[in-house]
Amino acid sequence: MFARVIGTGSCLPGNPVSNDDLAARGIDTNDEWIVTRTGIRSRYLAEPGTTSSQLGLTAAQRALEMAGIGAETLDLIIVATSTPDYIFPSTACLIQGKLGNKGAAAFDVQAVCSGFTYALGIAEKFIRSGSHRRALVIGAEVFSRILDWNDRGTCVLFGDGAGAVVLEASEKPGILATAMHADGSQSGILNVPGQVCGGQVTGDPFLRMDGQAVFKFAVRVLADIAEEVCANAGVATADVDWLIPHQANIRIIEATGKKLGIDRDKVIVTVDRHGNTSAASVPLALDEAVRDGRIQRGQKVLVEGVGGGFTWGAALLEF
Ligand code: UT7
Repeated sequence: MFARVIGTGSCLPGNPVSNDDLAARGIDTNDEWIVTRTGIRSRYLAEPGTTSSQLGLTAAQRALEMAGIGAETLDLIIVATSTPDYIFPSTACLIQGKLGNKGAAAFDVQAVCSGFTYALGIAEKFIRSGSHRRALVIGAEVFSRILDWNDRGTCVLFGDGAGAVVLEASEKPGILATAMHADGSQSGILNVPGQVCGGQVTGDPFLRMDGQAVFKFAVRVLADIAEEVCANAGVATADVDWLIPHQANIRIIEATGKKLGIDRDKVIVTVDRHGNTSAASVPLALDEAVRDGRIQRGQKVLVEGVGGGFTWGAALLEF
């Protein structure tokens, strides 16, 4: 029994915000620096009041529509997010309520930019065990809410959005292998160290990052985990049709592709237009490439993420 993707969907809020738009808002930056260092040209930023659950709901509705199934038939809903609407209830429960589903198991996964790959791996295990048959897996973020807009080293990198997939138990191949890892000793290089305590935010509520340490870590683990899932599935990396790495920086994406020997034209890239949308980046890129016809049924797609924790995860699927 496989967990097979039967629908994908995504949602980006509002209009693209260019690098020049950010400079015009008073951030001490320029298009040339951002494009050269990251490959990012624009990103989407949610209006105040727009939440992860709203973006995730729209992505989910589009995925359900592609799958041709009703939300009431889902028995598992997992949302990967580090920017939930509330401390609780989970964003998964909020989306479940808005979809009108009753009874499915619903919970959030917090693995930052690896969150979607973690959620996909968890859903796959539920389905393979036979306990669940139809899962909705969402990555949804409003990272713009946790950015320090006075820190030009981080605020230009991120964007908001959501992506979703519907998985179904199937005898036809679907997810072939998954892997998830973490190294908590690296929690200091990317974090949001604030807390809610006694009704107040205490500490620093904004994202902080040691960019160069993150860069080196990301390139190493993205190559390692891609090889791991390919080996577990018995598939050569040369036989991967599409690589969808976490969309954080074009230089990380290109270095990963190069290490794996995967041609540039087999790598799906959205970072130029979406920026880094954390847990939403992989399902957003997947949905784009499914809808524009690049990803075809029967092809092998390798998705992978890396992010705060540090965490990293991957899945190899036959689409
Ligand atoms: O999901 C995982 C999340 N994060 C990542 O994947 C990020 C990984 N890291 C990176 O992508 C890169 O390290 C960055 C893009 C964040 C930074 O690139 P870098 O080549 O490591 O630059 P840097 O931080 O060493 O900064 C170089 C210079 C500094 O100026 P000085 O000290 O050399 O005068 C910065 O102040 O660039 C300056 N700088 C900027 N200049 C214009 C930093 N941010 C900006 C900016 N605009 N936005």
